[in-house]
Amino acid sequence: MSTLFVTATGTDIGKTYVSAALIRQLRARGRSVEALKPVLSGYDPAAPAGSDAAVLLDALGEPVTAETLDAITPWRYRAPLSPDMAAAQEGTTLPYEAVVAHCRARMARARDILLIEGVGGVMVPLAGRLTVLDWLVALQCPALLVTGSYLGTLSHTLTALLALESRGVPLAGIIVNETAGATVGLAETAAALARFTTAPIRIVPRAAPVPDLAELVTD
Ligand SMILES: Nc1ncnc2c1ncn2[C@@H]1O[C@H](COP(=O)(O)OP(=O)(O)O)[C@@H](O)[C@H]1O
Ligand SMILES: [Mg+2]
Repeated sequence: MSTLFVTATGTDIGKTYVSAALIRQLRARGRSVEALKPVLSGYDPAAPAGSDAAVLLDALGEPVTAETLDAITPWRYRAPLSPDMAAAQEGTTLPYEAVVAHCRARMARARDILLIEGVGGVMVPLAGRLTVLDWLVALQCPALLVTGSYLGTLSHTLTALLALESRGVPLAGIIVNETAGATVGLAETAAALARFTTAPIRIVPRAAPVPDLAELVTD
């Protein structure tokens, strides 16, 4: 059994896109895959299709129903804000301990591979001073870091790597996911990052077949 936590340098970088592709690749290899996107903000209950939860359910080959939505994404907030702000707008607080306990329970009973998509980037606040990084540390599973290829991504990525390293989070790999309209080359971005890390780096071009990422998931 193995768990992979998909995080990123920020929101809209490609966590869901990469997660969905990876789920499909693993399933095509005959692996049994489960997925969680435990915390989602910017969720419109009137339009669940197109949400991260729906994209992941589709990759899993599951329908989007009230039950499957509850199972894959128990904590959903309407405002397209960081989880702490989105929860505050609903007069509540993200129950961090419950989120961690839920993930641990799913990790404990997963049959083969469990993929957990985080929320926003590595240092997004969840509740109070608790961030995605604390969540990752609590789960003690490897992270897959999705980054973009926009001008500025090198500093964002190295900062995220430093944050992960500072808390001893193992890195399964880095995915450089091509940013729409980026002026910086994908290969150049990957080569620059390779000077700073020994983690595997994979490039994902925009709107093109996703190269095989399945071997980044180790048992
Ligand atoms: N490599 C790519 N090719 C085409 N579209 C992409 C790619 N990566 C991301 N996208 C699109 O960009 C948007 C943001 O990506 P998403 O995976 O939802 O980001 P995140 O989960 O990190 O917030 C989505 O509409 C997604 O389909
Ligand atoms: Mg997402």
